[in-house]
Formats: sequence, structure tokens, C-alpha cells
Amino acid sequence: SAQKADSGELVGFQPVTLEAANAVDQTWPVISPDYDFQVLIPWGTPLEPGACEEWAGDPDTRPSPEDAALQIGVGHDGMWFYPGDAKKGYGIEGYEFVSTHGVLCINHEYGSNTHVLGKSAPENLDDVRRMQHAMGVSVVAIAKRKGGWKNVKDKKSRRIHANTPFMFSGPAAKSDLLKNGAGNVPLGTLNNCGSGPTPWDTYLTCEENFNGYFGASMPMVLSEEQERYGLSENGSGYGWYNFDKRFDLSDDDYANECNRFGWIMEIDPFDATQTPVKRTALGRFKHEAIAIGVAADRRVAAYMGDDERFNYCYKYISDRSIENCEARGVSPLDEGKLYVAKFNDDGTGEWMELTIENPVLAERFADQGEVLIYARIAADLLGATPMDRPEWTTVGKDGEVYWTMTNNSQRTEPNAANPETPNTHGHIIKTTGGHVNTSFRWEIFMLASSTSGTEGSFASPDAAWADAYGRLFIGTDGGQDDGLQDQLTVLDTSNKNAMPKRLFMGVVSDEITGFTITPDQRTAFINMQHPGNGDPAATNFPAPRDYMTIPRDCTIVITKKDGGIIGS
Ligand code: FEO
Ligand code: CA
Ligand code: CA
Ligand code: CA
Repeated sequence: SAQKADSGELVGFQPVTLEAANAVDQTWPVISPDYDFQVLIPWGTPLEPGACEEWAGDPDTRPSPEDAALQIGVGHDGMWFYPGDAKKGYGIEGYEFVSTHGVLCINHEYGSNTHVLGKSAPENLDDVRRMQHAMGVSVVAIAKRKGGWKNVKDKKSRRIHANTPFMFSGPAAKSDLLKNGAGNVPLGTLNNCGSGPTPWDTYLTCEENFNGYFGASMPMVLSEEQERYGLSENGSGYGWYNFDKRFDLSDDDYANECNRFGWIMEIDPFDATQTPVKRTALGRFKHEAIAIGVAADRRVAAYMGDDERFNYCYKYISDRSIENCEARGVSPLDEGKLYVAKFNDDGTGEWMELTIENPVLAERFADQGEVLIYARIAADLLGATPMDRPEWTTVGKDGEVYWTMTNNSQRTEPNAANPETPNTHGHIIKTTGGHVNTSFRWEIFMLASSTSGTEGSFASPDAAWADAYGRLFIGTDGGQDDGLQDQLTVLDTSNKNAMPKRLFMGVVSDEITGFTITPDQRTAFINMQHPGNGDPAATNFPAPRDYMTIPRDCTIVITKKDGGIIGS
């Protein structure tokens, strides 16, 4: 029940100008003169308050594995705020939810070995556990107090990490391809990038570059399927497979461990005893984020990007309404159809169903479970349109969907939906045509290159959230022009000629990602990921300036000085 927009311009604030952005040393953020910010829950914060925050001291000190599992993790990314009375007010028309306390679910995508361990590779299983426990998801109760937002003691707070038991549900749940010789309790979530809330107040966390944690301790030949998912003998340098067999592709007992990642996991923010569930109907790929739209008939549509160069845009449609599923005790995310996008040159598009009933897929796959486990290969076979790294999705005020294409340094052949070669700045695509239809219309909403050299300058759009009034908030991840660091910028989607306005600019080598907001839209939360790339010589943010310590990923709380709606 967000309140009406304040009077005045939809996006009326004074932006961070290029001049102001370039006047600072960029080891500290800069925000619009109309706004304030505070730092919340940096990496290492005890999940239950009381212990001191270890700002001071030796920058080489890192948490133990045991501590890491009880602290806020590293690599803050997608998140969502659930008001404290979300359950009480659920489904009540016009209910005004509280905006002063609630539960924040937050992804911890990754931290580099040098940042988390203080060395380039793990040397033993203890080091691997330190890494594993620093990543995943935090569920953290927070409240607005005198002096700002704080994390507070609450039995809902919990950590979910690479060793937390979970369950599979949906069409692939019982597939042999998800079973392991060494035991069948599935464990953990990895590379939790973007996220999305459900209309029934749960949290969906998306597993992106899971491939990088796997490798092979013995020489091996990777399968076609493993290669399509980017798995390799060396991984991305985490080195876990040298000490933890689960991540060793050459260990026969764990041959299918890699198939247990690349999913979307559902977490109940209000029940710390819930076993998280990976919803296989949503397919397996490098899931960036998810945005759910509810159709007039109360079925849900879920829009999802697969973030890798030349990969695809996906959509899921539930078979039945939220209420029908609720009455039968099933999840709307377990019974439905998965589609992949074909963008035609004329501004139309098709959602092509990934179903074993399609003869092209029946020839390649044994059953629907296998289609979902290898959704990328199924999408290849149907001729989906290769995109410029689909990142976040968000549903706008009229049901339109915005898709960020972050960039694609390797594109040489353009298509209408990805026109730049190479695409160094990225773009935003808008699709329309209804949540439950299988055809759509699309347009290029904005080429980020068109803003270069202007006051609205931004590049590499990544995180995205649209409010109910037409504001579109974009977080960036990648090289910016015009002397800028990564930023949060705001677009007025109701005015085709409006330029983006810069609300916040981060520090050197960080990424601005995640976006969530209180129900009254007067407090927003964004994340600063990998400030200074973890290098204390680059910045010590967010520690006080005179503290010698490594920089820490953290949440930034944004409020307007006049108490107004965020973005106004
Ligand atoms: Fe984790 Fe595609 O960003
Ligand atoms: Ca991202
Ligand atoms: Ca990115
Ligand atoms: Ca990132």
C-alpha cells in the first residue's frame, strides 16, 4: 500500500552532477544534495547485535568459519524488505504496512579469495569453509531507531550458505540428474546474485555464476552439458575443489553436484526453521534475478534473465491462480510452463515453450526434468535470441517489463534487440503484451551510450526496480564514462525525453546493486558490492576514514531530507 506520489515532479531531485562527482576523491560515496545516506550491516556484522563491529585493528584479520556462519556475509547484492506486519496485512485491501521495522533478505553473491581470506587461494578445508560461510543469504531483522536503521535481535534472523540443507520441488525434483552417489541431501546455495519477492511474501534468491566454484582435481573430459554451463577443470580460481569433494567434478560420487546449482531458491523470511526450496520449474541457467507480475486472472508470470554473453530472456507462467494454488497447498512456482524469448526484427516477439511435448526437445531429452535442468540447451534448440547479458527485470506501473542488458564486449553481429557492436555501454529493453500471453511487443527503452557525455551519463545497467508511479531505479556494474564510478540513477518512464538523474555514486571499483524500499517509499536500501575490490589501498569504506581496515560490502540506507518519496 504505497502512498501516492508527493506533488511535484516525478523525478524532481537535484542530481549528483558530473562536476560534483569529479570533485570528490571517490574513496567515499556522494549523494544528491536533497538526500542523506547511512551504512547498514557491513560484511562481518554479527547477525544478532551486541558484539562490537570490528572496524579497528589489523586489516589482515578475517572471520573464522564458525564466526562467518553467524555474521552478515560478503558480496551484498539483491535484497528485499518485508514489513514486520506483512503476514497480518496480507491480502487486506488498503492495509497500510509499517515502514519502521521488518525483515531484510539479502544476497551475498561472492567475495574474492584475497578479500575474504587475505590470500589468493585456500590452503585447507577450513579456508574453504570460511569462504562458503561468508556467501549465500542473510535474513536479518532491522528497525528504524533514533539515529537510524539498525539490525535487531529477532528469531527470524538466519544465515543460509553453501552448506545449508535445502529441498528441490517441481518437475525436475526427482530426476536422477540431481542425485549423487555420496548422499542425497542437497546442500547449499551459490553465487546469489539478484533476487525478487513473491506476492505471497517469500524471497527468491537467484544462483548465477555457480560454475566458477567447481573444478577438477584429476584430468577429465567435460560433458557437452557441463561445457554449456561454463564448468571447467580450473573454475574461476576459488580452488574449493582441492579440499571439498562436492566441488570436484572429477569425483564420481559427486558427478551431479553441479546440477544442483543454477536454480532459484525460495526462502520464507518469517520462519527461520523453513527448509529453503529450489523451484525447478523456473529452469536452470545463470539466474540473474526474477520479477513477478500478477495477471488479471491471478496467475503469475516470472521474468528472468540468464546473465552471460549471448544468453537468453525467460518467462514462466503458472498454470493456476495464486489462490487456487494456496487452496491446494502447492506453490504457483511448481506448476507452470517455462518459455524463452525470440525477439523479431519488427518489434514483435514470441515466448517459446520449453516442453518435452515439442518434438525437437523430445528427441534430445528424456523428460521434462531434463529439459529444465538443461534449459539453456533446450533454448538453443528452439532458436532463442542471443542477448547482451540479460541482468535484472522489473515490472512497471502498467505491467510493462524492463530488462537490463548490461553490455557485450564480444558482439560483432547485431540483431534488432541488441543493435550495438560491440555493446560497451549496455541498454534497457521494454516488453509489453500481458503477463499470460505467449507473444509480446518490445522496444529499446534506452541505449546507455546515448547518455555518454551528458549529465545523465551511465553505463552497464544491472539492478532495476520500477515503482508504481513510473520511476525506474537502475544500479550499474561496470566502467562508467565521464569520470564516474558505479551509481544509482533514476529514470522517469512516463516521459520519453527525460534523462536519467544520478541519485548516488559509489566508490572506486565497487558496484551498486540491489534495490528495495519500505512500503511508504520513504526509505530505500541499495547495496555497495566489492568496494575497492577489497583492496585497503583503494578505500577503507565504510569504516571511519582514519581506521586501517579492508573495505567491506554493505547496505546503503537512503532517505530524502524533506522526508519525501525516494526518487522524487
Ligand atoms: Fe551477478 Fe549478472 O550479476
Ligand atoms: Ca548483477
Ligand atoms: Ca553485472
Ligand atoms: Ca556483482
